[in-house]
Amino acid sequence: MITMKYIFEEISKHKRVLIVANIVAILSTLLTIPVPLLIPMLIDEIILGKGGNITHTIDQYITIGSPEYYILVVLLVTLFLKAISLILNLLHIRLFTKISKEVTYVIRKKLLNHLQTVSMSEYDMLGSGAVSAKVITDVDTVDKFVASSVGEIVVELLTLVSIATVILYLNWQIALVILLLNPLVMSFYLHVFRKVAKIKKKENKSIEIFQNSLTESLELYNQIRVQNREEYFLNDIDSKAKEIRDRGYQFGFRSEMALEFSRMLIMYSHDIFRAMGILMVLLGLLTIGKMLAIFAYAWIIMRPVDKLMNFMHLYFNAKTSIERLNEIFLLHLEPKYQEKVDPFKDRETASIRIENLSFSYNAKIDILKNINLEIKAGEKVAIIGQTGSGKSTLAHILIGLYPVTSGNIYYNNYEIREIGYKKIRENVGFVLQSPLMFNNTIRFNLTLGKEYDDKNIYEILKIAQLYEFVKGLENQLDTIVGKNGTKLSGGQKQRLSIARVLLDNPKIIIFDESTSSLDNKTEDKLLEALDDYIKDKTTITIAHRRTSIEKADRVIDLDIINNIV
Ligand SMILES: Nc1ncnc2c1ncn2[C@@H]1O[C@H](COP(=O)(O)OP(=O)(O)OP(=O)(O)O)[C@@H](O)[C@H]1O
Ligand SMILES: [Mg+2]
Repeated sequence: MITMKYIFEEISKHKRVLIVANIVAILSTLLTIPVPLLIPMLIDEIILGKGGNITHTIDQYITIGSPEYYILVVLLVTLFLKAISLILNLLHIRLFTKISKEVTYVIRKKLLNHLQTVSMSEYDMLGSGAVSAKVITDVDTVDKFVASSVGEIVVELLTLVSIATVILYLNWQIALVILLLNPLVMSFYLHVFRKVAKIKKKENKSIEIFQNSLTESLELYNQIRVQNREEYFLNDIDSKAKEIRDRGYQFGFRSEMALEFSRMLIMYSHDIFRAMGILMVLLGLLTIGKMLAIFAYAWIIMRPVDKLMNFMHLYFNAKTSIERLNEIFLLHLEPKYQEKVDPFKDRETASIRIENLSFSYNAKIDILKNINLEIKAGEKVAIIGQTGSGKSTLAHILIGLYPVTSGNIYYNNYEIREIGYKKIRENVGFVLQSPLMFNNTIRFNLTLGKEYDDKNIYEILKIAQLYEFVKGLENQLDTIVGKNGTKLSGGQKQRLSIARVLLDNPKIIIFDESTSSLDNKTEDKLLEALDDYIKDKTTITIAHRRTSIEKADRVIDLDIINNIV
């Protein structure tokens, strides 16, 4: 789970950089504080001839005494202070940006790590668009808050306090008004923004719905075209885009309205300071130079007030985004079993035993009930059964993609919970019923980023009856297959996904309708070539076609061993 506390803990992990950055920021702020005072004070000291600290200080170093000289020196000092402050400012921005980007990276990584371990059944419910909206939009909202909180809050508070102190020194009556008015404006803002943040949450939700719809439509665009349904889907996406427009308008308008209203309040207070300044001069309580200095401070005090208001705005937005991000952390995780035994170690293959296995997707309808099955090590078993009878489900369960509702599965007499899913998936290859391809090269689709040399890959492609095909391509293994393999035929995709599994040389292989798109001749050749490769391995072949299961030692009819009434 992500909380504000977690975020601040992450920020404080960069203690050293944080301290340096804050010292730099404080120095930069302190340097700029006296700047507005210098030139106006000259009015008192030179024009009104009152003498004072500035001319006196300059006289201590060199005495020339001409007013032009004082003006030049003060101007140069002002410019110098501003330049130094700018350099320090740039340094602090650099340090703070580094910390804030690091913190948002950690949040993104935490989200991705969590997604990695989310159970398969949760994935079935998830929309990829919804997840990406959260990982992108909401993390971005949090990022803005983090950047503002680490980078600005200390400096702006300090600026506010320093300016208030200087004004207090110049005239306590005006300082009192400033000190009273600013918190008033801010508390107003706090109240308004809490409400506006709720609209922000709705806006982000509509972005999520839009993104989900858009991603899915793009993924299935082929199907949409075939059915002539572009207009329907486009309208649907359009209505979701309109929702974003409307909510975005509401949020944008209201937040800007709140901001502008608060700014106006600050401007008012600015006018009040100025009017008070003139009044004080009239009453002889303030010099003209000091009055001008107060005008300048009243102007620059607006920046920290504005930033602090913005900070509150970002804080509330971040809070709602954190809530949305935590929806991901609420997804159930795949159970993680400790690897206690390795039944595959130093063995060619393993036996499989299924005991009283029952399974349901939704706790209502049993898909598999009380299944008992024993497959000897090295045995070649075929599983047949009506469509929808649960063959693919059983295969998924065998490698732990869905946890069993009740019953046990053993590899070489060790229960899967003792072996751990990771070890099982390392040793049990599963060729999925629907081949899935990345829009990447053939090589990547085979290796999924693992290191294999080309010789090894071509050996496997020979078994999968793809050798000639790939060799004949201009870019061979580096040919891009297109989105979900659109540049390949159904049979080529099937053979690629067989090759993908064979390449890992698993000790047990489950083929789920893996050759259903192949013509009989190619299928024969493939099964023939496969014969030697799987000689010592336990294999389960799920198939409807008689030709696919002819070579099996035993044919099991799931409809018979499944005790569904
Ligand atoms: N992820 C899922 N969530 C909920 N129900 C599912 C899920 N996957 C499959 N089912 C249901 O489980 C039942 C068995 O599906 P399964 O895919 O295992 O059948 P199958 O025997 O492989 O069928 P086929 O021969 O058509 O491939 C079906 O009734 C299906 O509707
Ligand atoms: Mg199936």
